[in-house]
Amino acid sequence: MQKKKMITAALPYANGPVHIGHLAGVYIPADVYARFQRRLGSDVAFICGSDEHGIPITIRAKKEGVTPQDIVDKYHSIIKKSFEDLGISFDEYSRTSSENHKKTSQDFFLKMYEKGKFTEEISEQYYDEQAGEFLADRYIVGTCPNCGNDGAYGDQCEKCGTTLSPSELINPKSALSGNIPILKETKNWYLPLNEYENFLNEWIIEGHKDDWKPNVYGQVKSWLNDGLKPRAMTRDLNWGVQVPLPDAEGKVLYVWFDAPIGYISFTKEWAEKNGKNWKDYWQSNDSDLIHFIGKDNIVFHCIIFPAMMKAHGDYIMPTNVPAFEFLNLENDKISTSRNWAVWAHEYVEEFPGQQDVLRYALLSSAPETKDNNFTWKDFQTKNNSELVGIFGNFINRVAVLVHKYYDGVIPTGNENAEELSEISKTAKEINEYLSKYEFRNALSALMNLARFGNQYLQTEEPWKTIKDQPEKAANSLFVGAQIAVGLAQLCEPFMPFSSEKLLNMFNTEKISWQEVENAKVLVKTGHQINESSLLFSKIEDETIDFQIQKLENTKQSNAKTNPKANPMKEEITFDDFTKIDLRTATILEAEKVEKADKLLKLKVDTGVDVRTVVSGIAESFTPEEIIGKQVMILLNLAPRKIRGIESQGMLLLTTKPDGKLSFVTPDETVENGIEIG
Ligand code: 2FM
Ligand code: ZN
Repeated sequence: MQKKKMITAALPYANGPVHIGHLAGVYIPADVYARFQRRLGSDVAFICGSDEHGIPITIRAKKEGVTPQDIVDKYHSIIKKSFEDLGISFDEYSRTSSENHKKTSQDFFLKMYEKGKFTEEISEQYYDEQAGEFLADRYIVGTCPNCGNDGAYGDQCEKCGTTLSPSELINPKSALSGNIPILKETKNWYLPLNEYENFLNEWIIEGHKDDWKPNVYGQVKSWLNDGLKPRAMTRDLNWGVQVPLPDAEGKVLYVWFDAPIGYISFTKEWAEKNGKNWKDYWQSNDSDLIHFIGKDNIVFHCIIFPAMMKAHGDYIMPTNVPAFEFLNLENDKISTSRNWAVWAHEYVEEFPGQQDVLRYALLSSAPETKDNNFTWKDFQTKNNSELVGIFGNFINRVAVLVHKYYDGVIPTGNENAEELSEISKTAKEINEYLSKYEFRNALSALMNLARFGNQYLQTEEPWKTIKDQPEKAANSLFVGAQIAVGLAQLCEPFMPFSSEKLLNMFNTEKISWQEVENAKVLVKTGHQINESSLLFSKIEDETIDFQIQKLENTKQSNAKTNPKANPMKEEITFDDFTKIDLRTATILEAEKVEKADKLLKLKVDTGVDVRTVVSGIAESFTPEEIIGKQVMILLNLAPRKIRGIESQGMLLLTTKPDGKLSFVTPDETVENGIEIG
């Protein structure tokens, strides 16, 4: 009985579509592995789903002016479809906003709670009194202590890249309301990770030195060397799985607590539908748990989630955590916010029927041991020279000649021909490489078999020998057909669409990996094959130029013409914009405000009314020089008391090179009360 293989792929955040970086660094290798294990006869559960909680989701929702549920609904279906279209063979692709997941993660939390595995800690966190919410780090903005950028976030300044904590920001403000947040005490539940250091050292540092990838092992080691600290497993937020305790209103499970439990909840869903017992995969020593992830997820899968499972008590530890490095695109970091990506759903639309080309190109440059780079030119070469030129060319020649000379019937040949051992040799090589998670080497081994086939035909030249040495020609095509079917069988984990086409073409069924490893003859003499069809086709320069141009357009729209300009503020919707009431107005009166060097009190004719505005412009203008000036006013700003005077609106100003302010004015004098927009 083969061991169970519980294979997970990192749950993608449902706040955007998936791109080639995700595919190359997690989903395609995981799929190759799962398909390969199925071919070995392992009892596989390949599980994934959308990660629908966490701040990235709520930020995206605010940006688009919709609810978090709208966001996750939209992206869950886009992501799910892209995976299906690209042949990622999940046994279950579910989502963390489901009731089942809520219950599973709450039960997990409660079990740990009842076993006394959490510590309760009171801490001070920023709170927005107007919004009535505690503020996640991303929701606090202020001035960066490092570079002075006014738009730095509580977790990072995007201008200089410094990692920050909210308390380091100068003049922190709530991104929700613009108000100054207060510090308020709150209780949360912490997992004392420090108590798991010995266990983690023994299990990973001593136990997996030789079989885990050096990048994974090294990162874990450095975390453990630095010492672990208790980490909050709950958050004061209103989007997520509620903390299942009576005194925890307004608190949810930390997204990194609930997300990995998603692997378990989704396995339960799959098991229920398929008459299986999920515990056989998660709580039995006959199961291997394997997490495919990107390198930014290592700490969560090698430290935090294992500590949670250890604390819970019923779970096995992962056998391996093959983590990948990052893929760059045309020598630049892939970025969702800068739209610097090749999106899976766009690829599927723009390259119909060519899913395997992307799978092949991404696997052959998978960022296994270091960051790697994807270029469209390289993609074209891989298709034209390797898939069309070698793989497709060989198979096509075999199929066409078998039809031409033998009416599509496999001719007689030597069943012990030496060349046939190349097939089993390749099957064994791929097996060895994939067991070590060496996907690129495995793919090269496959291509080498196609190369071998091509050279064999080239040397044998059956199109010449058919005339004078028909037996030799028959043997060449018999051997060629075995190699072609070998490729059809062995390419399935990597290029499942082509494998299906090929098996169909050679009128044969998928067999187990071991059968390919042991067999010499895969299609017998006398076997009738089907009509041949072209497997891969050349990708023309125009197609590639179009993709390069698309990226060029993105680059241009991202280019900064003024390096000192602050980054764009968070996007607003058109509806947000239409709420703003900007008008032309004229200053009627101006006077200094007592004991305030910067302020002038103005009377302004807005066309709608005459109102008072207090403006911080006294260091740039004298009262006399601005009387009669036409300006622009934000009319519907809520009134604010400034030095005891109610200010009813705000004048639009900008800063001159000498630091003095200047008014934003219309080109020529117009009536007051004209709307701007
Ligand atoms: O980094 C990410 O995209 C996370 N959504 C991965 C979560 S993996 C898991 F643990 F659920
Ligand atoms: Zn900064």
